[in-house]
Amino acid sequence: MSDNVPDIKYLFEPRAVAVIGASHDKNKLGYHVTDNIVSGGYTGRVYPINPRGGEICGRRVYKTIEDVEDEIDLVSIVVPAKFVFEAVKSCAQKGVKFASIITSGFAEVGNVEEERKIVACARAHGMRIQGPNIFGIYSCVSSLNATFSASCPEPGSVAIITQSGALGLGMIGKTAIEHLGLSAIVSVGNKSDLDEADLLEYLVPQEQTRVIFMYIEGVQDGEKLIKALSAATRVKPVIVLKSGRSARGAIAAASHTGSLAGSDEVFDDIMRQCGVLRAESVNEGFDWCKFIATSPPPPGDNTVIITNGGGIGVIATDASEKYGITLYDDAATLKETFAPVTPDFGSTKNPIDITGQAGRTEYTLALDAALNHKDMHAVMALYCETAVFDSENLFRMIIENSQKYREGGKPLVFSVFGGRKSRDCINLCRDQNIPVFGDVYEAVSCMGALFRYYHYRNASPDQAVMADIDAEALERIAAHAIEQNRFFLLAHEAQTIMKLAGIEIPKSSIARNLDEAVRCSEDIGYPVVMKVVSKDIVHKSDAGGVALDLENRNEVIDAYQAIMQNCRAYNPGALIEGVEIAEMVKPGTELIVGARRDATFGPIVMVGLGGIYVEVMKDVTFRYFPSGRTEIMNMIKDIRSYPLLLGVRGEEKKDIDGVAEVIIKLGSIIQKCTRISDIEINPLRVYEGRGVKAVDVRILLSKFDRSNKHE
Ligand code: COA
Repeated sequence: MSDNVPDIKYLFEPRAVAVIGASHDKNKLGYHVTDNIVSGGYTGRVYPINPRGGEICGRRVYKTIEDVEDEIDLVSIVVPAKFVFEAVKSCAQKGVKFASIITSGFAEVGNVEEERKIVACARAHGMRIQGPNIFGIYSCVSSLNATFSASCPEPGSVAIITQSGALGLGMIGKTAIEHLGLSAIVSVGNKSDLDEADLLEYLVPQEQTRVIFMYIEGVQDGEKLIKALSAATRVKPVIVLKSGRSARGAIAAASHTGSLAGSDEVFDDIMRQCGVLRAESVNEGFDWCKFIATSPPPPGDNTVIITNGGGIGVIATDASEKYGITLYDDAATLKETFAPVTPDFGSTKNPIDITGQAGRTEYTLALDAALNHKDMHAVMALYCETAVFDSENLFRMIIENSQKYREGGKPLVFSVFGGRKSRDCINLCRDQNIPVFGDVYEAVSCMGALFRYYHYRNASPDQAVMADIDAEALERIAAHAIEQNRFFLLAHEAQTIMKLAGIEIPKSSIARNLDEAVRCSEDIGYPVVMKVVSKDIVHKSDAGGVALDLENRNEVIDAYQAIMQNCRAYNPGALIEGVEIAEMVKPGTELIVGARRDATFGPIVMVGLGGIYVEVMKDVTFRYFPSGRTEIMNMIKDIRSYPLLLGVRGEEKKDIDGVAEVIIKLGSIIQKCTRISDIEINPLRVYEGRGVKAVDVRILLSKFDRSNKHE
């Protein structure tokens, strides 16, 4: 494979473009791609390629790519799948930088080998592949519309990367009627070579692009995506819409673009960790794009609602809680600021109710008051249709105040609710690229997304942490198990791993006879637990081989004798090696803590409410690893059961720092020991003050070692 990778800039800003499969037939995609390039006003040189020659869209047609005596940066390929390899080969040999393969019929229908062959051939010559199974690329900087879209995108500041081609084409149409201007829209399809992360390399530093919107169905190289997204969101907002949330949706997504859809919970948490805003629908994503692309960053969190109706104000208050918006509540300041612009029968408590008689002047006075107050940082202005405003006046009021807020550096969002006048006003505003929403929740959701993004961006980046683990010692234990053809560790091996990692486990030792059992119990300290040790007795409880809560010497003697008797009766042939005496662990809050090497995202850590209800409660959160300590603390705070750790009914706060340490240690084990693939502690008992104890530990080993030390 050639290391000679072309600059991604030439995909978006090619100096010359060829279309292989440019057709004379206006019903074919090859015609439309050529026509869109030519009629879209592309600033570079265009070469239609078709064995029949002639002229298409007023351009001379070349019979082969070799006939073109020019250096070509981008080739759009629109010939049937069986001809694509030859086309790619000729492009690669000619030194073309990028091939955008529109053709379908590859990995998405199981034709994986052909796709691999195409990529290998391209990469061997330093050429890169976009697609296949895509609609192409639009890039505003070079006025390039190398797609078969029905309408030409409006130039603007939102870049879209989409895995689904058809949805992307629909988005082009939708953005046009919504006046959502695009800096680029790129289809990645099967992502055989170029993926989202490669495209971000260009879009993140590109000035024209203010917001990036991505539609994702499945992630192939999650670790690469994490790196690219974490870097991107430090510079500009990234909004992701990922389908496949439901189990059925995930299966549909996998067959759609031939990708593996990962667990949605993991994806969701990791996106948040990367500072990405995850939208629920295309509409929501577009609303956020529109608002965030045009809004100034909020100078602080204090938000004020200004409304002409109480009901809609209450709805906005509820929505604010849902979207994490801080409503300014200094009653005295609110009164002082808004009393002069609010009728006596209105309200100066946030929401500020300027009442149904409010017209252009009243709204403007109230909005000015908030804009000019240093402690009020953002406003959500709500309007329910009344006879006071006509659409023209309403439109003027919105335009003027939006302008003032932009210049004043404070976010302002409008919600306009009502009939024809409201609809006309919303349309007028949209034509001017002023985001105004028909529904209060839409408006508040936009403001919430803006705050979420800037909270993330303003927080100082977290330094990734890694525990000091003797990886070699751990690997030796794992290697020993693998030699015995086991891909899991036995309890005592897992306990040794915990000891080596410095994670506290219940004290225990093995006693071969009654005297030793008594001595061990006394050493450990009462109460203790006793369990039979015999490789012939797997289900110890069923065999009567377990005794709990033994408080003194006599109880230990009785339990020892009972266990021996029970086990001999249960399996007379069993070889009994003795008993394990363990500390009877004190009750505490039970968590589950884990780490694993995720097939998509690499090392990830997990924490949640533990015990036997894990599956039912599903109260778990994930993060990629290594992460910073603040992020690990956020992860613990994210679980719904977090209040249990803060202590309830007079309990002291539990050892949350201790939990964080265990998470970091497990993550570090997975990160450093390639033979270990999964670790799960359940329960991890967490105590008041200080102290955590790993009561039960399960460790799985990887069948595929990345270092190839074993199969
Ligand atoms: N070099 C140059 N031109 C070639 C060629 C080659 N090696 N082989 C064929 N052509 C020409 C053909 O002569 C034809 O031109 P013409 O109409 O002037 O004769 C043109 O390329 C197209 O070939 P054709 O065989 O007519 O194919 P098609 O247009 O019916 O279908 C695709 C081609 C790519 C559109 C089709 O295979 C396909 O994949 N469709 C799905 C695309 C899709 O949905 N992509 C995902 C989007 S979201």
